[in-house]
Amino acid sequence: MEHERIIILDFGGQYAHLIASRIRRLGVLAEIMMPDDPEIPAKISRPEVKGLILSGGPQSVFAEDSPKTDPAIFSAEKPILGICYGHQYLAHNLGGKVAPGTTGEFGASKLKISPSAKASSFVETTEDKSDDRRGCPLFKDVPAESIVWMNHVDAVQDFAPGFENIGETPHCATAAAWNPAKNFYSVQFHLEVSHTKFGNRILKNFLEICGCSFDWNMQKFLDEQKQKLREKIGDKNVFLFVSGGVDSTVTFAFLNEIIGPERVKGLFVDTGLLRENEVEQVEKSLRAIGADLTTLREAETFLQNLAGKTDPEEKRKIIGHTFLDVQQDFFSREKLDEKWLLAQGTIYPDTIETGGTKNADKIKTHHNRAPEVQKLIDQGLVIEPIAELYKDEVRVLGELLGLPHELVWRHPFPGPGLGVRILCSDTESREILYDEVDAFTLQTKKKPYIKLPIKSVGVQGDFRTYKHPGILQTNETDIEELEKLATKLINHYSEINRCIVPLGKNFAGKIREISLHKTDINPDRVKILQRADAIVTKLLREAGEYETVWQFPVVLMPVSFNGEGTESIILRPVDSIDAMSASVGKLPFELLKKMAQEILKSRCAPQGGGEISAVFLDCTSKPPGTIEWE
Ligand code: XMP
Repeated sequence: MEHERIIILDFGGQYAHLIASRIRRLGVLAEIMMPDDPEIPAKISRPEVKGLILSGGPQSVFAEDSPKTDPAIFSAEKPILGICYGHQYLAHNLGGKVAPGTTGEFGASKLKISPSAKASSFVETTEDKSDDRRGCPLFKDVPAESIVWMNHVDAVQDFAPGFENIGETPHCATAAAWNPAKNFYSVQFHLEVSHTKFGNRILKNFLEICGCSFDWNMQKFLDEQKQKLREKIGDKNVFLFVSGGVDSTVTFAFLNEIIGPERVKGLFVDTGLLRENEVEQVEKSLRAIGADLTTLREAETFLQNLAGKTDPEEKRKIIGHTFLDVQQDFFSREKLDEKWLLAQGTIYPDTIETGGTKNADKIKTHHNRAPEVQKLIDQGLVIEPIAELYKDEVRVLGELLGLPHELVWRHPFPGPGLGVRILCSDTESREILYDEVDAFTLQTKKKPYIKLPIKSVGVQGDFRTYKHPGILQTNETDIEELEKLATKLINHYSEINRCIVPLGKNFAGKIREISLHKTDINPDRVKILQRADAIVTKLLREAGEYETVWQFPVVLMPVSFNGEGTESIILRPVDSIDAMSASVGKLPFELLKKMAQEILKSRCAPQGGGEISAVFLDCTSKPPGTIEWE
């Protein structure tokens, strides 16, 4: 039998993911399904499904295109918990009434649990068991009053027949409901966010109501998955493309453990766009676990295909296509017969719609669902051993499998590698700043920023932008303040989508001149960026800050100042959970300055060119910036 689980119906936004990861941390497997999935009725009647959660979502139940699900969920005799949209969905669909709102209720609010619902489950009255039957088990050990997080416009006016009102806030008289006969529960507030003080407790109560055994953990996953994969693989062999990133490395190690290294073949494509010494490091650490790894040395092919190309989208396409060509060559050269399966390191958020930016979806589907791969999937020749896991779970699994801590906790690295961190230009320009703006001595003139002559990718609303970054003119060194200032300026001046601040320079005096150089991705520029990136990583590790930031791209742009050098470097530390949104990594400003000085001192440049003119810090959140500059 499959492992027992809770099904979450994803009504939109990113709520479903947050609920799922909270449930998993409580020791229960959670699976997300789209509400219109035709499999729902069959799925929820399966014995391993212990209960159902209807997530929040940005829509109003009144909207014509609002998400709907099969009414079979109401007769499946499984406990249901509706949250926010899910709360209203239950009322709307079971005979109650939802009233359209105008102003809404956002942020912290005080939930007061109805005395009847509280009864014996009051923390204060736990000794008095005389009224046990009356307590609503959803609020067991939750105080009579506590802070909850609200985010809604519409509100339930009348509950459906059979539901009791079990909680209210000052602005919402119908904040929680319970149908004891059906074992249905619903709350208007978001119990999954950390701001809801007893949210985790309420969620745990629901899992107890569902009769969950709280036995989901990585060791258990490993044991169960081993068995399942062994059956699935049978006597076949497996090959996979490893990138050196966490997901494919853990998948590789996992397969090695299950069927032994002699039946697993790893292929590592050296695109020439990897980090300094990465090929050697990945080879060394994977061979250390006994893995059979072949490196396909394709750096020249990639760089030749990229020669003369400058447009970000075109660069991406070329890298993607070259990857596919290399894979295709491999497929035809090796004449893989039915004795072989392809394994992929696809993880959970990649497998379902996330409601994030369209582009994020495109990025993720790109590699793992390429046409050639899709053909193999359709023939049942692809396995995805960690497709049920989140990134943090993948890391725990990696450690259980004995992979080195450093490898397992590496920052995510994009498929196109340094190709999305080397900005190019098909034109040249030289601009004299008659206004004598000075980013380095910090005198404010006219606009509070200097517009760079190059563009970078950003994201505003659901759309990708391609606009100029601005060099901020401020003496602020508090990163949070800089981030606030950047947001304010980008909202005000529509020509910019990012703000950067200077950290170090290789020229004397103020900025009087800015030059843009015509250039593409070439071996010299790759080397400069690899060196700068290696310096940053080394200092970050030495300072003990490597694992305090989520990712730390280092970017190269062909822009120089006052006729000194031809390149500049941007440091882009970010904090994030899932890369859909990000804030600037809160590292000590002194450390960032030290990185800049080290980069300038070491020159990074090969003999005869590519000198670094200045080093900057990107102080833009995502949105409006993206993590990579492209
Ligand atoms: P952006 O720049 O869109 O990046 O904010 C979000 C996250 O995705 C990574 N990234 C990629 N990962 N293939 C990948 O596997 C790609 O083409 C790609 N582009 C961006 C980026 O490093 C960040 O973690």
